[in-house]
Amino acid sequence: MIPGRLASSGGCQRRRAPDAAQSREGGTAAAAGGIRPLLLRQLATGTKKGERHDHRLRAAYGPWAVVTGASSGIGREMALQLADAGLSVVMVARSRDVLDRLAADLDLYSRPGVEVRTVAVDLALDAGTMAVEKATRDLDVGLLVAAAGFGTSGPFLESSLEKELEMLDVNCRAPLQMSLHFGRRFAGRGRGGLVLMGSIVGFQGTPKSANYAATKAYVQTIAEALHAELAPLGVDVLASAPGPTDSGFATRAGMQMGRTLKPEDVARSTLAALGRRSTVLPGALSKLLAYSLAPMPRWARVRIMGRVMDGMTKHGSTTKSSPMVGNRVG
Ligand SMILES: NC(=O)c1ccc[n+]([C@@H]2O[C@H](COP(=O)([O-])OP(=O)(O)OC[C@H]3O[C@@H](n4cnc5c(N)ncnc54)[C@H](OP(=O)(O)O)[C@@H]3O)[C@@H](O)[C@H]2O)c1
Repeated sequence: MIPGRLASSGGCQRRRAPDAAQSREGGTAAAAGGIRPLLLRQLATGTKKGERHDHRLRAAYGPWAVVTGASSGIGREMALQLADAGLSVVMVARSRDVLDRLAADLDLYSRPGVEVRTVAVDLALDAGTMAVEKATRDLDVGLLVAAAGFGTSGPFLESSLEKELEMLDVNCRAPLQMSLHFGRRFAGRGRGGLVLMGSIVGFQGTPKSANYAATKAYVQTIAEALHAELAPLGVDVLASAPGPTDSGFATRAGMQMGRTLKPEDVARSTLAALGRRSTVLPGALSKLLAYSLAPMPRWARVRIMGRVMDGMTKHGSTTKSSPMVGNRVG
């Protein structure tokens, strides 16, 4: 954290907008493994097309976005790309230190005028979602990205009820509460967006990750319904359903993945699809996996997913050959 730049406010931290000179400073953040300077990030994505995309995001979903799961993986990339596009960002996760470091990096490397607020809370708890609502009451929020989530894997009968219930809270209850809260706010201002993180495992039952896949089926279903229901109120809703992605997810879920997507590509495809459709399968790998299963009857998809999970779970699996094991679904 940069001393003097962040003022503590209960469970959240506020940060003033950097001036242009500060945002151009070089220095320690990138060298220490933090984010790359804005110009390098823009060069990686193509500047001209990127400017139109950034303008669209600011106009439709600015000035503030709330991103849960912003300390790692897909949520972190969402927060960075939104800040690059010129939106101010409220970053939510449990890891206060990680959020503070990211906020300090953005302080150095984001566009002038971009502000960052961090809210370190546990979204498995009612108090967590309420703290987010409280910390954003004074902000003109136009976008919620609900990326916080985790998975489990292994035989269902060996699972911990406590952990599975926690997963229901983080993956389903928290997005429900926050979609209702921010959906009402966005409908009231006639403009806004909700991005809910599903998964390709949410399109059918998935043995050895039964409850996780069920949480993602919930997310997919509610997002599809809200897409239709809230569109006339000016609120865009998108389900993003990635395949296996290289993030902190696999370690926490006890899974091993083969081919993976990059979180930055998942974030980019998702933001590009927002306002244009109800579901996005980010990247070629997600499309390949989802479309190869789609024509099959549901029972066959479940059976294939069971074999895939046998190859992915670290819980003493009985790996059988499957056309998809090499691709490893997440
Ligand atoms: N990676 C994949 O293969 C994959 C595929 C399809 C869908 N997804 C979905 O994509 C979303 C993002 O996952 P990821 O791949 O980016 O995984 P990740 O790198 O592990 O990130 C998960 C994020 O969620 C936050 N989080 C977890 N539990 C939380 C809690 N109780 N309260 C608040 N924040 C919490 C984590 O922060 P803290 O630990 O700091 O709290 C972290 O920022 C998840 O919903 C996941 O299900 C992932």
